[in-house]
Amino acid sequence: MAEYDSIASGYSDSKQLAFRDHVERHTLFRTLGDVGGARVLDLACGDGFYTRLLKQAGASSVTGVDVSAEMIRLAEESERRSPLGCSYVRSDAADFRPSEPVDLVVAAYLLNYARTREELVGLCRVCRDSLRPAGRFVGLNDNPRVPPAGSVSYLKYGFERRCDRFPPREGDPIRYMFPTADGSSIEFANYYHSPATYQAAFRDAGFRDFRWAPVSLDPAQAGDSFWDDFMRSPPIIAFSAEP
Ligand SMILES: C[S@@+](CC[C@H](N)C(=O)[O-])C[C@H]1O[C@@H](n2cnc3c(N)ncnc32)[C@H](O)[C@@H]1O
Repeated sequence: MAEYDSIASGYSDSKQLAFRDHVERHTLFRTLGDVGGARVLDLACGDGFYTRLLKQAGASSVTGVDVSAEMIRLAEESERRSPLGCSYVRSDAADFRPSEPVDLVVAAYLLNYARTREELVGLCRVCRDSLRPAGRFVGLNDNPRVPPAGSVSYLKYGFERRCDRFPPREGDPIRYMFPTADGSSIEFANYYHSPATYQAAFRDAGFRDFRWAPVSLDPAQAGDSFWDDFMRSPPIIAFSAEP
């Protein structure tokens, strides 16, 4: 059973939090630019949240891949309820190969599940090998540039982020906790790797260009001091890479 099988619906509910829209989605699509006509692979697609948005943004095809059967069930349920033409595969991303190269690989919170540098290079290599030569790899990640010092409350945004050691060492768990509507919570762990380790992993996987894309706030929210703490210590970051 994959880690997300037991928290799938709680995680799905968390996609309704305001930061998901005004910071996360805004940053990802700003980093992506125009996806019109692109053949897209969405690795670690979860319940298909971004798979569907990518298709709605004009991608010609989008295939979502996730290791959690329950996440894929939720994604397929959305597709059945309101068909967009997205397709889904349950697989570990590390073992997945598309039948033909794609224009764009998207991975929102996949790389931060690599427990070791070798796993990180392996995941980057899958992304590299899935792309046509002029393709792009764009994603979201736990932010290794701003590791949590102890337990950091982002509760006004809907979650907490914690690491038992500061500064963290390679492979240390970064624990997230999201309170849920029924008074309980969902928890999951990402794994820390330094920015230099990411840089080297992309290089070793065959990406010649890799850059971080710091989060940006939806201009519709500009001037709202509610976002100041989040933007001062952003727990998440985007990136973009080209072979
Ligand atoms: C934080 S969720 C993100 C889901 C989705 N990308 C989103 O942004 O809503 C992380 C997802 O990664 C999946 N995952 C973790 N490791 C994976 C792997 N090795 N291969 C495929 N999926 C993986 C989990 O099952 C989970 O659905």
